[in-house]
Amino acid sequence: MIRVGVNGYGTIGKRVADAVVSMPDMELVGVAKASANHTADAAADRGYNIYVPEDRHSQWADAGMTVAGDVHDLIELSDIVADTTPAGMGAEYRPIYEDHDTPALFQGGENADIVEASFTARANYSEATDKDYVRVVSCNTTGLNRMFAPLHEKYGVERASITLVRCRGEHAVLSADPVSIPSHHGPDALEVIPDMGPITTMGMKAPTVRHHFHGINVTLGAEPSAAEVRDLLASQSRIHVIDGDLGIDSGWELQEYALDRGRDRMNLYENQIFEDSITMDSSQLHLFQSIHRESDVVPENIDAIRAVAGEADAIESIEQTNDVMGIGDI
Ligand SMILES: NC(=O)c1ccc[n+]([C@@H]2O[C@H](COP(=O)([O-])OP(=O)(O)OC[C@H]3O[C@@H](n4cnc5c(N)ncnc54)[C@H](OP(=O)(O)O)[C@@H]3O)[C@@H](O)[C@H]2O)c1
Repeated sequence: MIRVGVNGYGTIGKRVADAVVSMPDMELVGVAKASANHTADAAADRGYNIYVPEDRHSQWADAGMTVAGDVHDLIELSDIVADTTPAGMGAEYRPIYEDHDTPALFQGGENADIVEASFTARANYSEATDKDYVRVVSCNTTGLNRMFAPLHEKYGVERASITLVRCRGEHAVLSADPVSIPSHHGPDALEVIPDMGPITTMGMKAPTVRHHFHGINVTLGAEPSAAEVRDLLASQSRIHVIDGDLGIDSGWELQEYALDRGRDRMNLYENQIFEDSITMDSSQLHLFQSIHRESDVVPENIDAIRAVAGEADAIESIEQTNDVMGIGDI
């Protein structure tokens, strides 16, 4: 059993904690969070042990909520910690993990230079094997890498130009995010698959929730038909090619699709590629895909835990994670 602590119980942490609990080879030591709020109450209802930063104990006592200890206890009791604290805070925690001699996974909000490897299971699982500090790249970069990996293996990715429309519900305007080009996603994809051609990513943010959209343009090293590319992408366990007949063209429809299929928390762990958008023009591939920002990195965290623990190879881990989480069943 791999004893896992989840430091940070927000959008990503709560999903990673649930996934850890569901894995037969893992045990959830507990979760850490700062505020004694409704999310804490929900974690307690699920029976999760809750750990808090040292300076927050009195707030939790005032709220009448029980804690199992402070974050240092969680780190000490865990074989590995999934750090899902807010972007940038993982870098502050890294020396603390080192003090406890506890390996840790970080998320896409951290810079590549705080880890030994950046990770996407389909692309470079073995890079994380037996490393102590690994970063699961962001939701968008994870989605790009899952698409790039098979394309690069089969045809070669000579260059790519991607427009990412990122859901940022809190902003009531469309804006460049960031204005400078490339956004972090292209360089991050190359951290994971370094021998691809140049990848240029342009980020925008839109006032919507849950589903990012990517307009993809890839120059391949071959000229396959659109049907061949479709079949290759559809054969990937964490890519769902959405049948054109289903009439899905929006994040709203994808949300309903997840709910209708009984997906917890509206999770869609797989890239959602719109079948009717897959187009080839000589060596130019164009397509649209959507990424559920809250959940595509969750199976990646589970695989990264096994890789760091040295417990399974890529095929074994990905298959086990997919089976337990029902990935590929939609
Ligand atoms: N949200 C996404 O869609 C998404 C997708 C992919 C990757 N990521 C990345 O995943 C990471 C986490 O993002 P998130 O959106 O899940 O963040 P979030 O929802 O803001 O959750 C952060 C959690 O960290 C807790 N926290 C705050 N200070 C802490 C401290 N000192 N010690 C321990 N825990 C503390 C917060 O507790 P309280 O709530 O109690 O304050 C909260 O539970 C970031 O690197 C982000 O870039 C996010």
